[in-house]
Amino acid sequence: MDLSKTLPTMVPCRICGGTVYECLDFGRQPLSNGFLKPEDVPHERYYRLAVGICTSCTMVQQVHEVPRQLMFHDGYVYRASGSSLMRKHFEHYAEHLLATELNGEDKFLVEIGCNDGVMLRAIHEAGVRHLGVDPSGGAARVAEENGIRVRIDFFERATAASVRAAEGPADVIFSANTISHIPYLDSVFGGVDALLAPEGVFIFEDRYLGDIIARTYFDQIYDEHFYLFSVESVRAAAEQYGFQLVDAEHMPVHGGSIRYTVARPGVREPSASLLALLEQEREMQLGRHETFAGFAGRINGIRDDLVRLLKELHNDGKRILGYGATSKSATVTMFCGIDSGLVPYICDTTPGKQGRLAPGSHIPVRTPDAFRDPYPDYALLFAWNHADEIMAKERTFREAGGRWILYVPDVHVI
Ligand code: SAH
Ligand code: TYD
Ligand code: ZN
Repeated sequence: MDLSKTLPTMVPCRICGGTVYECLDFGRQPLSNGFLKPEDVPHERYYRLAVGICTSCTMVQQVHEVPRQLMFHDGYVYRASGSSLMRKHFEHYAEHLLATELNGEDKFLVEIGCNDGVMLRAIHEAGVRHLGVDPSGGAARVAEENGIRVRIDFFERATAASVRAAEGPADVIFSANTISHIPYLDSVFGGVDALLAPEGVFIFEDRYLGDIIARTYFDQIYDEHFYLFSVESVRAAAEQYGFQLVDAEHMPVHGGSIRYTVARPGVREPSASLLALLEQEREMQLGRHETFAGFAGRINGIRDDLVRLLKELHNDGKRILGYGATSKSATVTMFCGIDSGLVPYICDTTPGKQGRLAPGSHIPVRTPDAFRDPYPDYALLFAWNHADEIMAKERTFREAGGRWILYVPDVHVI
């Protein structure tokens, strides 16, 4: 991670047109969900992964854009319903929406990035009119098989206008872990403008920059996460596109996320929680380029500690397996140079990843059964955001003397 460049790369901000100064460079990275068949390895494509911060609106964004059709398509393997924690999280929030924003005659909810229907399932079961929009056909068809209405498409201005023409205005436009994936936010907000009812709300949740920096979650940076949102940068973006950020709620999922509520100007009062988070961000100096220098230093420290630990264990004859073939792990394995020599395979519950090779590192992905056959000495937990669920499921691994290796917020063994 080289921060000593005298002439940092500058690009125009995707939101406000201001100047984005590059502040973190992870070098060559593969598609983070590009799980490979062995015969695909020679054709694997790599991109430079680097993020910068806008000196005007503070939006943290990638300096290069990976074409969307290479990431999100029929073969996209990620399935949101793979975690019981996330199923509960969305069920709980769907119930809240049903009791509040969706309580009334013929309400209509549109979800951007519904994936396999993890959130819409409860909305559908409650009999509320809904539509999921997601370009990843394989995931969206799982939702469809459960009776959920979906449109296999990218959400943007034109898609939203055609949904509005066919179905009328939406009372709620909801999205989770998707808006940060979309570089063309002008078109997304244009679509929200076309589709949202005058008093409606656009609610979206995404990983939070404040937690990413405070706990050195550097592996949240990968191709799909084009933006790393802060409350201030989302406030500025909403205003830029003619909307108002009226609420921000901090939540623990994915290591720390924020649920933003956006409305047309003057429709809702800004909440106390929003104002408190904005104040906290000023104290943290989240919008400053200098904050990233400390972050980069800590990332390098984690890489050095993790590589040292893995090599020591390996030289001592210990067997180490990976757990959770996450998108995040592509950043870790590539940045740290971890390959199948150190970690012979990664266990994961996702059928579309099993039997494939992890992108970049080409570490094979196997089923969780392969974890028990026999247990390794150490397991490197790439899915650290599901630590409680996975450690409970694999309790006997620790009872048998096995140890978990975690690398955030620092390298430690449990
Ligand atoms: N909402 C789920 C899934 C998040 S994964 C959850 O929170 O777990 C991100 C999803 O966004 C993928 O299914 C991807 O296909 C979808 N996506 C990416 N770009 C999109 C766009 N422009 N419009 C709608 N969905 C998009
Ligand atoms: P996740 O952290 O949700 O996402 P990302 O890809 O954005 O980093 O991915 C969790 C991965 O871990 C997913 O591939 C499924 C896997 N997993 C298991 O193998 N076992 C489990 O018990 C859980 C909860 C997840
Ligand atoms: Zn900007």
